[in-house]
Amino acid sequence: MSGAGNLVAIYPGSFDPVTLGHEDIVQRTLCVADRVVVAVAHSSTQSKRQLFSVEERVRLLQEVFQDEARVECTSFEGLLVDFARARGARFMIRGLRAVSDFEYEFQMAQMNRQLWPGAETLFLMPDVSYAFLSSSLVREVAVLGGDISRFVSPLVARGIRRKLENHRRAEE
Ligand code: COA
Repeated sequence: MSGAGNLVAIYPGSFDPVTLGHEDIVQRTLCVADRVVVAVAHSSTQSKRQLFSVEERVRLLQEVFQDEARVECTSFEGLLVDFARARGARFMIRGLRAVSDFEYEFQMAQMNRQLWPGAETLFLMPDVSYAFLSSSLVREVAVLGGDISRFVSPLVARGIRRKLENHRRAEE
């Protein structure tokens, strides 16, 4: 894929919150790309129930990847292909957890290619232990008082606990 030493891959998503499955995908991407831009999409948040604001998610991502000099965490508005093109990055990374992800991912990859023929989507599989994981499940388990320590890094777990405590206090 690379050779020139400057291959940038964009890893877009909602990351509400970043999970160990996402971290696994970033580590795999670093094996094939020189740099990874983890990009929180503003648009994808509108249709989902949110726990963290986009800014808070970017901050959590930055903390999670603070020791990875080749990882940048940011957010973007508008179309993914426009963001990618502006960053000079034609490779987009998506994780495929199970066959059920395929239909949606296939549609998105084809649409992105229609919008920008130069765009290329690369699919990576997370470790099988993360195949069942999703951010909304982590949120649900946390809200109901379950243990999320196997699904997110400790600093993310702390951030979730703090957020839920704030919600509870605001409701009292
Ligand atoms: N580990 C854990 N969870 C994973 C995962 C992994 N490796 N890979 C995916 N997931 C989960 C996510 O946590 C998320 O869970 P949730 O729905 O419970 O929150 C779910 O799979 C899929 O979400 P995500 O990967 O965040 O994608 P998305 O569908 O929310 O957003 C974008 C996809 C951001 C790439 C897309 O909406 C986009 O490009 N938006 C910009 C606007 C645009 O260009 N639109 C046209 C696109 S064709």
